[in-house]
Amino acid sequence: REQQLKRQFEALEQANNFFQQQLRHSPERKRAVDYLKQRGLSGQIAAAFGIGYAPPGWDNLLRHFDSVDNATALLEQSGMVIHNEDKQSHYDRFRDRIMFPIRDVRGRVLGFGGRVLGDDKPKYLNSPETPTFHKGRELYGLYEARKHSNHLDRLLIVEGYMDVVSLAQHGIHWSVATLGTATTAQHLERLFKLVPEVIFCFDGDQAGRTAALRALNTTLPVIKDGQQARFLFLPDGEDPDTLVRQEGEAAFSERVTQALSLSEFFFKSLSDDADLTSMDGRARFSNTALPLINSMHPSLLKQMMLDRICEITGLSLEQLSSVIDLHQATHEAPAN
Ligand code: UTP
Ligand code: MN
Ligand code: MN
Ligand code: MN
Ligand code: MN
Repeated sequence: REQQLKRQFEALEQANNFFQQQLRHSPERKRAVDYLKQRGLSGQIAAAFGIGYAPPGWDNLLRHFDSVDNATALLEQSGMVIHNEDKQSHYDRFRDRIMFPIRDVRGRVLGFGGRVLGDDKPKYLNSPETPTFHKGRELYGLYEARKHSNHLDRLLIVEGYMDVVSLAQHGIHWSVATLGTATTAQHLERLFKLVPEVIFCFDGDQAGRTAALRALNTTLPVIKDGQQARFLFLPDGEDPDTLVRQEGEAAFSERVTQALSLSEFFFKSLSDDADLTSMDGRARFSNTALPLINSMHPSLLKQMMLDRICEITGLSLEQLSSVIDLHQATHEAPAN
């Protein structure tokens, strides 16, 4: 089994080399290179992220592995090749796409994200889950960010591959992207082991705002004293890539300094849904807020957020906990 995993990592590395080489030598390379240029990427940044190109055709990768023993099974296990049961044949998963290799923190290629050059659907195709690739755990760009700096003090969490690469192109080498999934507790636990501060920066659209709310709910039970989560909201229709291209590093960094703290976003998003001038609104607000606050580890922040609910409702913690179970919060001393 050990041996098999080793072969899979080797195959993925070899596939990655192939895609990078195709960006230089494929007969179709001009379209791919033009596409990357049009997105504002230099050859240097493309190389730093190992960006490549899977040319059109059903078996370029398969044929590249011709001389490798059991290549078809190996590529299938690695998620690079798809088995067509009806035709009893195999074909390349990624065709005519810009390829973004996804590495683990040690730099091993685990899989790929592939983007079409035009407007075809799906826009991005990702490697499937394999024994070596778990999307809820890995973060695109983490290896590259750590390689760039061995002393990171914060990380920006964005939605897409292009956001990470474009930010780096503009001098912001401290962003990571989830892989087409929501931010998980595992992602956050991993990040907080590396940096004390994470800043969520999702797209300025409905999906991005929903993702931020979900990230808030995921963060509450994870975060501890000494750790900070903040939320940066972008103007409508923008994502980190379009914005940093428009306004450059300095203006983008200035936005980062304005990001909302966790508690600011928490109280703002909840009070957007409830009329705090009415008693009924304040009750509804507190009913939503208390279980969420209660999910937090004991901390100063938690205590202060509870105090805020007391201010809003005019009730004491004792009174609140007679209605909602706040045992942890009221009876445990704050950490530290
Ligand atoms: P977006 O839909 O925000 O990408 O998806 P985008 O900003 O429009 O893409 P560009 O800038 O035109 O290239 C953000 C992320 O969601 C995942 C990918 O990880 C992508 O980077 N995604 C998106 C998919 O997995 N599949 C899709 O079809 C679309
Ligand atoms: Mn097969
Ligand atoms: Mn979007
Ligand atoms: Mn984009
Ligand atoms: Mn986007």
